[in-house]
Amino acid sequence: MDAGGFPPATLSALIALVRKHTGIAMTERKSVLLERRLRPRVQALNLSSYQAYLDKVEQDRAEVPHFIDLVTTNDTLFFRTPQVWDYVEKEFLPKWWSEHQGQKLKIWSAAASSGEELYSMAILCEEFLESHPGFSYQIHATDISRQILALARDGQYTGRSVERIQSTHPDWVKKYFRPSANGLRVVDALKRNVELAQHNLLTPLKPARQFDLVFLRNVLIYFDQEQQQIILQQARPSMAPHAIMIVGESESISGLNTAYQFDRPMIYRME
Ligand SMILES: C[S@@+](CC[C@H](N)C(=O)[O-])C[C@H]1O[C@@H](n2cnc3c(N)ncnc32)[C@H](O)[C@@H]1O
Repeated sequence: MDAGGFPPATLSALIALVRKHTGIAMTERKSVLLERRLRPRVQALNLSSYQAYLDKVEQDRAEVPHFIDLVTTNDTLFFRTPQVWDYVEKEFLPKWWSEHQGQKLKIWSAAASSGEELYSMAILCEEFLESHPGFSYQIHATDISRQILALARDGQYTGRSVERIQSTHPDWVKKYFRPSANGLRVVDALKRNVELAQHNLLTPLKPARQFDLVFLRNVLIYFDQEQQQIILQQARPSMAPHAIMIVGESESISGLNTAYQFDRPMIYRME
């Protein structure tokens, strides 16, 4: 196998292949990261070069999901960016309830990764339900990576992923998690109103839904402006007229020509 980095032609072909299958705009600067991620797979398949692996991805559709899993970044944790969750708990939920009593709150975790974001939301919904009988919710969680969605479905967490919730909300850990072989597993009650599905954000969500709250966090950063615009356009038909969209801390969509109105950092409303 090639030692010490990709040959330039292989790197260009790899970047093109990442873009073809995920839309993600990688640059040559990611070469070391990509090599670290691809190496074990190339070795496991007993291939002689990275180029041979790229050829396999092109020719063998069954390899594409593995390739997507390898090139996507799935970092996440429970209650990531606390001010977002403060907003959801203290402002969004009470306001939504006062305006939509009797309806079901529909939430989309649009790049759900291993599920920490969607289960953080489920915890806030379960807590809200205790003080607001009649409240109901549904969380639709999607990601391009089937492998990461399998982890979300399993719902077992350990390490950095649960450190914050363990220190800030030991009561919630006791209530919503059970010790498991690999750390902590979310209780079934948190999974009750959750559906998980594979979805590429660059394509339309089918069927389109009328979500009240959309988490599109820490995924736009992987795309160039043109692709970001496409992602936001594809999400638009799934947003209710009053919907709120939440993006990541280092993401802003204000500069893009879209129908989303800035409310405050990370929070956008529909026009
Ligand atoms: C860093 S994680 C974000 C997790 C969570 N939203 C958060 O903020 O903690 C980014 C996720 O985006 C997913 N992703 C990357 N490209 C995608 C695409 N084209 N469509 C859908 N999901 C994608 C990755 O698989 C990864 O799980």
